[in-house]
Formats: sequence, C-alpha cells, structure tokens
Amino acid sequence: MAQTALLTGSYGGLGTVLARIHASRGGNLILVGRSQEKLDAQAAELRQQCGVTVHTIAADLSRADEVEKVYTTVKANGWSVDYLMNNAGFGGQGDFACERSMEQDMSMIAVNIEAPTRLAKLFLPDFIERGRGKVLNVSSTAATMPGPLQAVYYATKAYLTSWSNALWRELQDTGVTVTALMPGAMQTGFVNAGGLADTALFAHAVSPDEVALAGYEAMLRGDLNVTAGLPGWQRPMMALASLFPKKAMLDFVYNQQVSGSAH
Ligand SMILES: NC(=O)c1ccc[n+]([C@@H]2O[C@H](COP(=O)([O-])OP(=O)(O)OC[C@H]3O[C@@H](n4cnc5c(N)ncnc54)[C@H](OP(=O)(O)O)[C@@H]3O)[C@@H](O)[C@H]2O)c1
Repeated sequence: MAQTALLTGSYGGLGTVLARIHASRGGNLILVGRSQEKLDAQAAELRQQCGVTVHTIAADLSRADEVEKVYTTVKANGWSVDYLMNNAGFGGQGDFACERSMEQDMSMIAVNIEAPTRLAKLFLPDFIERGRGKVLNVSSTAATMPGPLQAVYYATKAYLTSWSNALWRELQDTGVTVTALMPGAMQTGFVNAGGLADTALFAHAVSPDEVALAGYEAMLRGDLNVTAGLPGWQRPMMALASLFPKKAMLDFVYNQQVSGSAH
C-alpha cells in the first residue's frame, strides 16, 4: 500500500529531492510550506510525473497556531500520515549580540525547534496507536559543535539531534522510528537565505541529491542518525572533532563563517 509522507519545507532544495524520491517510489505526499503558489506548482508536477496523490497545506511554521493547523487540516480531511519529514529550517550568518535581530533568532528557534517538536507531539500518538510510522528530522552536522557566527542555528540543530535520538530510544518496540539526518553544507536556498554565500563553509557545498537519498533510506531502515554530503576531507575532521581542543575548534568554525572567508 502507498505510504503517505507529510513533508515540511517541501519546495526548498533538500525538500524538493525528498519529495521526488518518495513520489517516484509511488508514495503519496502532503506538502507543507509558506507559499501556496509554490506548493500548487510542486504538487501539479509530482502528480503529473509520478501519478501519486498530493495534498498541500500552506503554513508559516514560525507560528504555533499554523503548526497546529497542519495537524487539524490532516485530521479534518481524514488523511493518514505514515512518514513525518521535518525538513523546513533556516540558518543565518551574524554575530549574536550585535548583528542578528531578536526576531530573526526567535523565528529560527520557532521553525527549527518548536515546529518539529509540536508536529511530533501531535502525530506520534497516532503512529504509536497504529503500531507503525517513521519520522525524519533534518538536523545538520552543525549539531556536533558550537557555531560562532551562527550560534543559534548550530544550537537548534544540537537540540534536534539530541531530541531525535532520545525519542528513538523511547519508541523502541512501538513500531515507530525517529531518524536524524545530519547533512554537511549543501548548495540550496539555505545559502543565500542565511547570508552564507561568500563563506569558506560553503565553498565546497554539495548537491542535496545524495543527502536526500541517504536520509530517506536511513528513515526507511529506522536508523538513529545519518551523516551525508561531506566532502572527503571533512569526513575525518568530523569524526575527530570531539578530540580537538575546544577553543581551537571555536576559532576554526568562526573563521569558516566570516563573510568573505571563501576567497
Ligand atoms: N543547505 C545546507 O547547507 C544545510 C546543511 C545542513 C542542514 N540543512 C537543513 O536542511 C533543511 C532544508 O534546508 P535546505 O538546505 O533545503 O534550504 P532551503 O532550500 O532554504 O529550504 C528550506 C525550506 O524551509 C522552508 N521554511 C523556512 N522557513 C519557514 C517557515 N517559517 N514556515 C514554513 N517553511 C519554512 C522554506 O520555505 P520558504 O522558501 O517559503 O522560506 C524552504 O522550503 C533545513 O532544516 C536546514 O537547516 C541545510
């Protein structure tokens, strides 16, 4: 039977590929994003190319009432959700105290932390009752270290991985799994939206294609974590990151995220 995935941030870089992978395997979709126009265009394309059922829900996930609306819309329409893919999120370069506004950082916490937490709180009881269901939380390799010049973003992703892993254990024996996907730097809308285009961190950013596939398959297996999209030299570095002196690591991450560091 076709599985239905609810996907947030569906028309972004990674979301577009996740949607395409799921639909190309015959899965139905509920696409969630801010722009109804973009959702409609994406839904029409997926229906036409893959012959699957696609619903849309326009919602600004920085608002708690709109997140709740996602769940009430699903229930009101009698749609069934098998996979919950919490993908929407954004970053943003800048010094916490002087450059990033209160609104920017609080909205980031709302989208990156509160929205996935609320959606999981709402959908998980249904999954548990049914004895099956899969959650994919799109975190980041940023989860593994503090991120000077993206202080709040890195912290939101640390929350996401920690919380996902704890849920994975709590849900053992329920038939429900929670997987954290931790991509490295990807070439998506994230880069310009976060003012990161001229930083060294994004100089070797990869396409979201292989990341989406690794994440989707890890979700199907019910893996705990999956790291994907790191260029060769970054892999050993990530593995050894916890062994580096903390202050040297903070300097390194800072320097990678300074505007103009790509040159
Ligand atoms: N790109 C990277 O280097 C990278 C690395 C590690 C992890 N990630 C994570 O990967 C996920 C997908 O990001 P991406 O790289 O695909 O970036 P993207 O192309 O910018 O896509 C992000 C998506 O999130 C949506 N979104 C942002 N704010 C929203 C809000 N308030 N309400 C509803 N939707 C909202 C965006 O919709 P709008 O266009 O309407 O804003 C967009 O569809 C994010 O969680 C990100 O943190 C990205």
